[in-house]
Amino acid sequence: MESAIAPHLRCPRHDPDLNPRRISDDFLPPFPAWTARDKTEQDQSVMGYFGVQWRDPALREAADRLLDTLAQRLAGSAVNVERAIFEDGAGYANAVLIGYWPDPQAHAGWWRVQQEWWQGQACALGGLGLYREVFLPRSTHLETLFSASDRLEGIGVMLGGRSAEPIQEHGYWGGMRDRLPASQKEAFAASGGREIVPIAPGARLVIGHEGLALIRSGQDWSDVIGQELALYRDRIEPTLRAGMMFLRDKGVEIGCYFNRYMQVDETRGGKPCRSFGMSVWRDLASLEHWAEHHPTHKAIFGDFLEVVQALRGILSLRLFHEVAVLQSDAQIYEYLGCHDRTGMLNGLA
Ligand code: HEM
Repeated sequence: MESAIAPHLRCPRHDPDLNPRRISDDFLPPFPAWTARDKTEQDQSVMGYFGVQWRDPALREAADRLLDTLAQRLAGSAVNVERAIFEDGAGYANAVLIGYWPDPQAHAGWWRVQQEWWQGQACALGGLGLYREVFLPRSTHLETLFSASDRLEGIGVMLGGRSAEPIQEHGYWGGMRDRLPASQKEAFAASGGREIVPIAPGARLVIGHEGLALIRSGQDWSDVIGQELALYRDRIEPTLRAGMMFLRDKGVEIGCYFNRYMQVDETRGGKPCRSFGMSVWRDLASLEHWAEHHPTHKAIFGDFLEVVQALRGILSLRLFHEVAVLQSDAQIYEYLGCHDRTGMLNGLA
């Protein structure tokens, strides 16, 4: 067993004002889990979400064409690009491309080439909404968790490696915080607020604030069969869906700016049987509070532990997540022709 924090980022937890780890040094997690290890040797990476939204089903084809073009433009620059779909709280269909870059310069170089095309789209949306949400997490403020050792997902694919051994800081509430290297020195307090900046008719930027938290939490049931599949479909997934809908529709009240329950789009070559929740929060503490106290997540956490015990740890359901705490200069949000509940506009506009 090893610490989730990469060796070069470990340091003593001296500050008495910070919460210590919630576990003792000899804690043994109830089941194994791994973390991705960064082989890129960069101290800041990039997560890009590029979305198209529409309400009228007749616009579906135009939306697909726009996203196809964007996918071609991402190819060869972003890593592990995936396409996913979801319905938002205003009843609009959304399709999103997610991609990663190993450092801000790689993303900035790509974006410079795209800018003219992007601005051209803004003038010809024809009823579609188009948005980009770019997050630039520092490696000190990023953590990943995988319930299986044989498959990396999301940013893990780009980071390129995983811990040689299972990690210690997981399987208890507070593990997410303890895995973030910066938790050794800071409390991740948020400050400031969101602000909308209109840039042209129908085009808006949102300026984020210090300490905002992002999670992408994925499920992969591609190898799940028999009783475990029935349990996933009949008990875990409906509860997960209820939790996701709560966050989508009522999340703002508890510090969740927006939440998307997304299905990877298999019709466009996506990996089968994958879904994930993706949400952005005012701060890490609000996310922690939901995970630990909301009846939906408490129930799926309990179900998961029950299945792990029943199957003696040999689970086919794979879970992964990536969590980042972001500085105010590490976020870019742009919404073109989008409705007021889109992404970071939700609860603000
Ligand atoms: C942690 C189960 C979906 C948010 C956990 C853990 C389990 C779990 C077992 C503990 C992990 C560990 O430390 O080893 C599940 C299952 C899910 C699911 C079975 C779906 C089938 C989600 C989603 C979100 C979420 C969609 C949010 C969008 C969290 C958070 C933690 C967590 C924030 C960390 C809590 C902490 O360490 O304080 N979940 N989860 N989970 N989950 Fe989920």
